[in-house]
Amino acid sequence: MAPSSSPTLRTTSEADEEKYANVKWEELGFALTPTDYMYVAKCRQGESFSQGKILPYGDISISPCSPILNYGQGLFEGLKAYRTEDDRVMIFRPDQNALRMQAGAERLCMTSPSLELFVDAVKQTVLANKKWVPPPGKGTLYIRPLLIGSGDTLGVAPAPENTFLIYASPVGDYHKVSSGLDLKVDHKHHRAHSGGTGGVKSCTNYSPVVKSLFEAKSSGFSDILFLDAATSRNIEELSACNIFIVKGNIVSTPPTSGTILPGVTRKSISELARDIGYQVQERDVSVDELLEAEEVFCTGTAVVVTAVETVTFHDKKVKYRTGEAALSRKLRSMLTNIQMGIVEDKKGWMV
Ligand code: COI
Repeated sequence: MAPSSSPTLRTTSEADEEKYANVKWEELGFALTPTDYMYVAKCRQGESFSQGKILPYGDISISPCSPILNYGQGLFEGLKAYRTEDDRVMIFRPDQNALRMQAGAERLCMTSPSLELFVDAVKQTVLANKKWVPPPGKGTLYIRPLLIGSGDTLGVAPAPENTFLIYASPVGDYHKVSSGLDLKVDHKHHRAHSGGTGGVKSCTNYSPVVKSLFEAKSSGFSDILFLDAATSRNIEELSACNIFIVKGNIVSTPPTSGTILPGVTRKSISELARDIGYQVQERDVSVDELLEAEEVFCTGTAVVVTAVETVTFHDKKVKYRTGEAALSRKLRSMLTNIQMGIVEDKKGWMV
């Protein structure tokens, strides 16, 4: 594929200017606001990715017979860019997403971009869409890398071609809640099972949760919490983020032993909690322990760190600590202060 060109592919039209001028940064939710450019690279089976191109954001053409459309052979990532008060644009830990995509590609028999190519492509996408990184404190630029099985394969087989694509959108909060989420424990459906793909960011992990999520939301809940498929005794994760419980000085989260997504925010928050003296345990957490916890929160790129206010399991509803006194509040501000450049990034997390 030809080397990437600088993002001067078209002149800004009046329509583009108007689209930009009409963005209400204060009102952003977690929804698509299309930006100007996307990154696209393709690679034939047996070859490795070389530099892709920055193209105008828009629809892509794909074979009806592609493995992504027929068999769901695809992975995605999510990461964010932040605008600091002194107008720098910083990306949070893109190397971690690159490594996770590589692990997922290995599981799905796909070719993934190298760490260097991935990070470079993310930077190119952000630079091309730099004006879409919201003003400080008014949101972030959500970056969505995709690795999809393209080409034609009628039978179930590795894709003859892989497409690596990145698009971006300014976003606000994933959940619009005042004090915390109201979760429902799903005791009928499971998100993942041992030996499956729950531990990688496969597209196929998300469509099966939509029904539970939709039903829970229709009954007034904010999100759904899944239990392990083997025993239905331990908590796993929500529809799109990891979960932590707090009791005394101990912060616990289910282990990444195959059914839990190894979240980048999960890992970062565990490190920050240890830094301030909490003992962080990655271990099986039973529903009984969840119901007895003092505090519960969830983590993810989209949700950042969000407190859980209540959990409902069958007909039992438990309320947790939220607000100023909550550890989740402290951890969220420790993390976002690094991401927004408010405190020095001693961890070397920002690019
Ligand atoms: C993220 O937090 O970036 C995710 O990938 C969750 C997504 C399904 C909204």
